[in-house]
Amino acid sequence: MSILSQLTNRFNPQLSKIAVSLIRQFDEQVSSIPDMLKLTLGEPDFDTPEHVKQAGIRAIEENYTHYSGMAGLADVREAAAAFFKQKYGVSYNWQSEIMVTVGATEAISATLLSVLSPGDEVILPAPIYPGYEPIITLAGATPVYIDTRETGFVLDPAALDKELQARGKKVKAVVLNFPSNPTGVTYDEKELAAIAEVLKKYDVFVISDEIYSELSYDAPHETLARHLREQTIVINGLSKSHAMTGWRIGFIFAPEELAKEIIKTHQYLVTAATTVSQKAALQALVQGINDADVMKEEYLARRNFVYDKMTSFGFEVAKPSGAFYIFAKIPAGYQQDSMAFCVDLAQKSKLAIIPGVAFGPEGEGYVRISYAASLEQLKEAMNRLESYMKE
Ligand SMILES: Cc1ncc(COP(=O)(O)O)c(C=O)c1O
Repeated sequence: MSILSQLTNRFNPQLSKIAVSLIRQFDEQVSSIPDMLKLTLGEPDFDTPEHVKQAGIRAIEENYTHYSGMAGLADVREAAAAFFKQKYGVSYNWQSEIMVTVGATEAISATLLSVLSPGDEVILPAPIYPGYEPIITLAGATPVYIDTRETGFVLDPAALDKELQARGKKVKAVVLNFPSNPTGVTYDEKELAAIAEVLKKYDVFVISDEIYSELSYDAPHETLARHLREQTIVINGLSKSHAMTGWRIGFIFAPEELAKEIIKTHQYLVTAATTVSQKAALQALVQGINDADVMKEEYLARRNFVYDKMTSFGFEVAKPSGAFYIFAKIPAGYQQDSMAFCVDLAQKSKLAIIPGVAFGPEGEGYVRISYAASLEQLKEAMNRLESYMKE
């Protein structure tokens, strides 16, 4: 056997339990079909606001091309603190409690890898964004899912309490994501207070991924940190709020005692976020503090359009109050295997949407539509779906 083939057997065994995300796999599979209309990826169709792009260009010209400090540039962290305080009403010390990361993705990885040891358990409400489980697995920990299908995709505090009590010390962390990918469902003040009441009883880390906070339609976003600052590591970023996915800017907001540990992992993963992107982020946070509002208005019109259409076709949908996804139950009488449904829809009607199973077994029987696409595209998509359903 060659050394190369021996090496392929010597990777971290946990890696063999991780696969490329089903969302990406499905997207690649259907991308080669001509005339395919894709509502697959969770990426804003808007471009980064012009003034933010210009700030990035200026940053290069002014030689912001060196490393920044590992937590990020001081002015960016200060601006992130001001943004968070103004929008969500919680203060963080920019010098010790805020880190600029390489997208929310690196914030998630740095946090989970800092917190978890082999054998630990992490509680997640399901269906859920598939970006957490692989890192939990890589750390040798085990995800434990709480099914939220019967409670409108909202985590029931009593179910959470029961799970935490039954599992005891094995549980190291709880991950929440709201507004949610894939369901768009979010929590109001009362619901968060009830969840916080439960979490307070246990010494678990709470990782609150609030990346869609600026895209909350029915009420202003409420952060978990307002109810549970001590235990919570808030993850956020500019990918969705400012259509800045490619700039890779995220944030961690956490009490100093937690932040000073997580920053070690962050440093050895990435050293620091890209300096040019940080300067663009500064512009977004200060001059562009309300940039998301224009996009939000547009997303809201699209949500209403897609929601009305989908329900009229017989899909059952928990009306999303944030993010840009519709998570819909495939009507009875149609193929219930979500992958088979989506493959058939793609082949026959040239419409690509994501099978619910990509968000865990609890997503089986559902499909996710991303409405981060123009109203024109969405109208065409709904026409294609309607003809498919009538076939
Ligand atoms: C819930 C959630 N968290 C994190 C991310 C990743 O964000 P970023 O592009 O900033 O890494 C996404 C992207 O789709 C997401 O939906």
